[in-house]
Amino acid sequence: MSHWPEQPINIIIKWLKDRSPSLLVADFGCGDARLARNVKNKVFSFDLVSNDPSVIACDMSNTPLDSLSIDVAVFCLSLMGTNFPSYLQEAHRVLKPSGWLLIAEVKSRFDPNTGGADPDTVSKAICELGFTSVSKVYSCSLMLYLNT
Ligand SMILES: C[S@@+](CC[C@H](N)C(=O)[O-])C[C@H]1O[C@@H](n2cnc3c(N)ncnc32)[C@H](O)[C@@H]1O
Repeated sequence: MSHWPEQPINIIIKWLKDRSPSLLVADFGCGDARLARNVKNKVFSFDLVSNDPSVIACDMSNTPLDSLSIDVAVFCLSLMGTNFPSYLQEAHRVLKPSGWLLIAEVKSRFDPNTGGADPDTVSKAICELGFTSVSKVYSCSLMLYLNT
């Protein structure tokens, strides 16, 4: 990852810094919680295990967040495994109406030419969960959706 031209988490950080710090954020599969450490927003950071007391240890398909409580749900390099629809369903549950879903992945994951998924098929599946696609930035595979 250190050789990538741009770190996906930095794109998410910049996206948030361009918006109101009052937005409540849930970071699904937060890793070392870099997002929470780099924005002014209140960030609820979730990962399976962590030594960091600020990280809530849980399976991200079942977070302790209230329904309709979050403005921005972030999946940065964390939509892995066959269970990923349940993670997106959980994001849909906790997001407020018109809340944002931000997904950042390595480009190759959404490139059928390199063994990745077809981005249009992925996008259609996400929209069927109740989101509307707002933009796709395939150069870094950042996808933005609105909870609708
Ligand atoms: C590649 S890391 C990305 C970390 C961070 N989002 C970033 O961009 O630096 C993926 C993270 O997702 C977490 N993860 C994977 N499946 C998970 C699950 N079911 N529930 C919670 N966290 C999960 C992993 O433990 C790991 O920390």
